Amino acid sequence: MITIRLETESDIEFIREINELAFGQPDEAELVDKLRQSCNNILSLIAELENKIVGHILFSPVAIDSTNGAIKGMGLGPMATLPEYQHQGIGAGLINTGLGTLTKNGCPFVVVLGHPTYYPRFGFEPASNFGIGCEWEIPDEVFMIHVFDKKLLTNIKGTALYREEFNELA
Ligand SMILES: CC(C)(COP(=O)(O)OP(=O)(O)OC[C@H]1O[C@@H](n2cnc3c(N)ncnc32)[C@H](O)[C@@H]1OP(=O)(O)O)[C@@H](O)C(=O)NCCC(=O)NCCS
Repeated sequence: MITIRLETESDIEFIREINELAFGQPDEAELVDKLRQSCNNILSLIAELENKIVGHILFSPVAIDSTNGAIKGMGLGPMATLPEYQHQGIGAGLINTGLGTLTKNGCPFVVVLGHPTYYPRFGFEPASNFGIGCEWEIPDEVFMIHVFDKKLLTNIKGTALYREEFNELA
Protein backbone atom coordinates (compact mmCIF):
# COMPACT_ATOMS: atom_id res chain seq x y z
CA MET A 1 0.00 0.00 0.00
CA ILE A 2 1.58 3.26 -1.13
CA THR A 3 1.20 6.40 0.95
CA ILE A 4 1.79 9.81 -0.60
CA ARG A 5 2.51 12.61 1.87
CA LEU A 6 4.32 15.90 2.34
CA GLU A 7 8.05 15.62 3.00
CA THR A 8 9.34 16.12 6.52
CA GLU A 9 12.81 17.09 7.74
CA SER A 10 13.80 13.47 8.31
CA ASP A 11 12.96 12.55 4.68
CA ILE A 12 15.48 14.96 3.18
CA GLU A 13 18.47 12.60 2.99
CA PHE A 14 16.32 9.88 1.38
CA ILE A 15 14.89 12.33 -1.15
CA ARG A 16 18.43 13.24 -2.12
CA GLU A 17 19.35 9.57 -2.56
CA ILE A 18 16.25 8.77 -4.64
CA ASN A 19 16.94 11.65 -7.02
CA GLU A 20 20.61 10.68 -7.36
CA LEU A 21 19.76 7.05 -8.07
CA ALA A 22 16.90 7.76 -10.47
CA PHE A 23 18.80 10.37 -12.49
CA GLY A 24 22.24 8.75 -12.15
CA GLN A 25 23.79 12.12 -11.25
CA PRO A 26 23.61 14.59 -8.35
CA ASP A 27 22.29 17.61 -10.28
CA GLU A 28 18.54 17.14 -9.71
CA ALA A 29 19.09 16.27 -6.03
CA GLU A 30 21.06 19.49 -5.65
CA LEU A 31 18.32 21.46 -7.39
CA VAL A 32 15.74 20.07 -4.95
CA ASP A 33 17.96 21.01 -1.98
CA LYS A 34 18.53 24.52 -3.33
CA LEU A 35 14.83 25.17 -3.97
CA ARG A 36 13.90 23.91 -0.52
CA GLN A 37 16.29 26.46 0.97
CA SER A 38 15.49 29.42 -1.23
CA CYS A 39 11.77 29.13 -1.88
CA ASN A 40 8.95 29.00 0.65
CA ASN A 41 6.35 27.99 -1.92
CA ILE A 42 7.39 24.54 -3.07
CA LEU A 43 5.27 21.41 -2.84
CA SER A 44 7.46 18.42 -2.07
CA LEU A 45 5.78 15.03 -1.76
CA ILE A 46 7.14 11.57 -1.11
CA ALA A 47 5.79 8.11 -1.81
CA GLU A 48 6.23 5.60 0.99
CA LEU A 49 5.90 1.86 0.73
CA GLU A 50 6.17 -0.23 3.90
CA ASN A 51 8.06 2.57 5.69
CA LYS A 52 10.53 2.97 2.84
CA ILE A 53 10.59 6.16 0.77
CA VAL A 54 10.50 5.06 -2.87
CA GLY A 55 9.50 8.18 -4.80
CA HIS A 56 9.59 11.95 -4.75
CA ILE A 57 8.05 14.85 -6.66
CA LEU A 58 8.68 18.56 -6.45
CA PHE A 59 6.51 21.41 -7.67
CA SER A 60 7.96 24.93 -7.67
CA PRO A 61 6.70 28.36 -8.75
CA VAL A 62 6.55 29.29 -12.42
CA ALA A 63 5.42 32.64 -13.75
CA ILE A 64 4.02 33.24 -17.22
CA ASP A 65 5.48 36.49 -18.33
CA SER A 66 2.67 37.79 -20.53
CA THR A 67 1.75 41.14 -22.03
CA ASN A 68 -1.05 41.35 -19.40
CA GLY A 69 1.40 40.92 -16.51
CA ALA A 70 2.75 37.83 -14.79
CA ILE A 71 0.47 34.90 -13.98
CA LYS A 72 1.74 32.59 -11.28
CA GLY A 73 1.39 28.84 -11.27
CA MET A 74 3.64 25.86 -10.63
CA GLY A 75 6.09 23.65 -12.49
CA LEU A 76 6.28 19.87 -12.02
CA GLY A 77 9.75 18.42 -11.57
CA PRO A 78 12.06 16.96 -10.83
CA MET A 79 10.31 13.73 -10.01
CA ALA A 80 11.98 10.42 -9.29
CA THR A 81 11.12 6.84 -8.40
CA LEU A 82 13.78 4.43 -7.14
CA PRO A 83 14.79 2.37 -10.21
CA GLU A 84 13.64 -0.95 -8.73
CA TYR A 85 10.18 0.48 -7.97
CA GLN A 86 9.48 2.10 -11.35
CA HIS A 87 6.52 1.16 -13.62
CA GLN A 88 4.25 0.38 -10.67
CA GLY A 89 2.24 3.59 -10.70
CA ILE A 90 4.25 5.39 -8.01
CA GLY A 91 4.99 8.32 -10.33
CA ALA A 92 1.30 8.50 -11.28
CA GLY A 93 0.31 8.56 -7.61
CA LEU A 94 2.73 11.41 -6.92
CA ILE A 95 1.49 13.43 -9.90
CA ASN A 96 -2.20 12.92 -9.11
CA THR A 97 -1.79 13.81 -5.43
CA GLY A 98 0.30 16.87 -6.31
CA LEU A 99 -2.19 18.11 -8.90
CA GLY A 100 -5.06 17.53 -6.47
CA THR A 101 -3.34 19.54 -3.74
CA LEU A 102 -2.47 22.39 -6.07
CA THR A 103 -6.01 22.67 -7.50
CA LYS A 104 -7.41 22.75 -3.96
CA ASN A 105 -4.98 25.59 -3.15
CA GLY A 106 -6.21 27.63 -6.11
CA CYS A 107 -3.17 27.16 -8.36
CA PRO A 108 -4.32 28.08 -11.91
CA PHE A 109 -1.90 25.92 -13.93
CA VAL A 110 0.99 23.45 -13.78
CA VAL A 111 3.63 23.14 -16.49
CA VAL A 112 5.96 20.22 -17.12
CA LEU A 113 8.89 19.48 -19.37
CA GLY A 114 8.75 15.76 -20.02
CA HIS A 115 7.64 12.72 -22.02
CA PRO A 116 4.84 13.78 -24.40
CA THR A 117 3.24 10.33 -24.18
CA TYR A 118 3.16 10.16 -20.37
CA TYR A 119 1.81 13.47 -19.07
CA PRO A 120 -1.36 13.80 -21.24
CA ARG A 121 -2.96 11.01 -19.16
CA PHE A 122 -2.90 13.46 -16.22
CA GLY A 123 -4.56 16.26 -18.21
CA PHE A 124 -1.46 17.92 -19.66
CA GLU A 125 -1.45 19.21 -23.24
CA PRO A 126 1.12 21.13 -25.29
CA ALA A 127 1.56 24.57 -23.71
CA SER A 128 1.69 25.99 -27.24
CA ASN A 129 -2.09 25.30 -27.43
CA PHE A 130 -2.41 28.24 -25.03
CA GLY A 131 0.26 30.38 -26.70
CA ILE A 132 2.67 29.62 -23.87
CA GLY A 133 6.30 28.91 -24.61
CA CYS A 134 9.29 27.66 -22.67
CA GLU A 135 12.33 29.73 -21.78
CA TRP A 136 14.63 26.99 -23.07
CA GLU A 137 14.95 25.72 -26.64
CA ILE A 138 13.13 22.40 -26.61
CA PRO A 139 10.81 20.55 -28.98
CA ASP A 140 7.29 21.97 -28.78
CA GLU A 141 5.59 18.74 -27.69
CA VAL A 142 7.71 18.18 -24.55
CA PHE A 143 6.58 21.39 -22.87
CA MET A 144 3.09 20.83 -21.53
CA ILE A 145 0.55 22.53 -19.33
CA HIS A 146 -2.38 21.44 -17.19
CA VAL A 147 -4.74 24.37 -16.92
CA PHE A 148 -7.11 24.44 -13.95
CA ASP A 149 -8.38 27.96 -14.57
CA LYS A 150 -9.02 28.25 -18.30
CA LYS A 151 -10.57 31.71 -17.94
CA LEU A 152 -7.37 33.14 -16.49
CA LEU A 153 -5.30 31.81 -19.37
CA THR A 154 -7.61 32.91 -22.19
CA ASN A 155 -5.89 35.29 -24.60
CA ILE A 156 -2.61 35.03 -22.73
CA LYS A 157 0.57 34.64 -24.70
CA GLY A 158 3.91 34.49 -23.03
CA THR A 159 6.87 32.55 -21.75
CA ALA A 160 6.76 30.35 -18.66
CA LEU A 161 9.68 31.13 -16.39
CA TYR A 162 10.93 28.65 -13.84
CA ARG A 163 12.87 29.66 -10.73
CA GLU A 164 16.41 30.86 -11.44
CA GLU A 165 17.82 27.72 -9.74
CA PHE A 166 16.75 25.67 -12.80
CA ASN A 167 19.18 27.64 -14.96
CA GLU A 168 22.01 26.51 -12.71
CA LEU A 169 21.22 22.87 -13.50
CA ALA A 170 24.36 21.63 -15.26
C1 LIG B 1 9.71 9.33 -14.59
C2 LIG B 1 9.58 8.42 -13.37
C3 LIG B 1 9.56 9.25 -12.10
C4 LIG B 1 8.25 7.65 -13.49
O1 LIG B 1 8.09 6.94 -12.28
P1 LIG B 1 7.23 5.59 -12.18
O2 LIG B 1 6.99 5.35 -10.73
O3 LIG B 1 7.86 4.52 -12.97
O4 LIG B 1 5.88 6.08 -12.90
P2 LIG B 1 4.60 5.25 -13.32
O5 LIG B 1 4.70 3.83 -12.86
O6 LIG B 1 3.42 6.06 -12.97
O7 LIG B 1 4.69 5.34 -14.88
C5 LIG B 1 5.72 4.69 -15.61
C6 LIG B 1 5.79 5.39 -16.94
O8 LIG B 1 6.64 6.53 -16.82
C7 LIG B 1 6.85 6.97 -18.13
N1 LIG B 1 7.92 7.94 -18.07
C8 LIG B 1 7.66 9.27 -17.97
N2 LIG B 1 8.79 9.95 -17.95
C9 LIG B 1 9.81 9.04 -17.99
C10 LIG B 1 11.22 9.15 -17.97
N3 LIG B 1 11.83 10.34 -17.94
N4 LIG B 1 11.95 8.02 -17.98
C11 LIG B 1 11.35 6.82 -18.03
N5 LIG B 1 10.01 6.66 -18.06
C12 LIG B 1 9.26 7.76 -18.04
C13 LIG B 1 7.00 5.76 -18.96
O9 LIG B 1 6.24 5.98 -20.11
C14 LIG B 1 6.39 4.64 -18.09
O10 LIG B 1 5.38 4.05 -18.80
P3 LIG B 1 5.22 2.43 -18.76
O11 LIG B 1 5.16 2.00 -17.32
O12 LIG B 1 3.96 2.25 -19.51
O13 LIG B 1 6.44 1.90 -19.46
C15 LIG B 1 10.74 7.39 -13.31
O14 LIG B 1 10.81 6.73 -14.54
C16 LIG B 1 12.10 8.01 -13.00
O15 LIG B 1 12.44 8.20 -11.82
N6 LIG B 1 12.88 8.28 -14.05
C17 LIG B 1 14.22 8.88 -13.88
C18 LIG B 1 14.12 10.33 -13.50
C19 LIG B 1 13.36 11.13 -14.54
O16 LIG B 1 13.64 11.07 -15.73
N7 LIG B 1 12.37 11.93 -14.07
C20 LIG B 1 11.47 12.66 -14.97
C21 LIG B 1 11.99 13.97 -15.35
S1 LIG B 1 11.84 15.15 -14.03
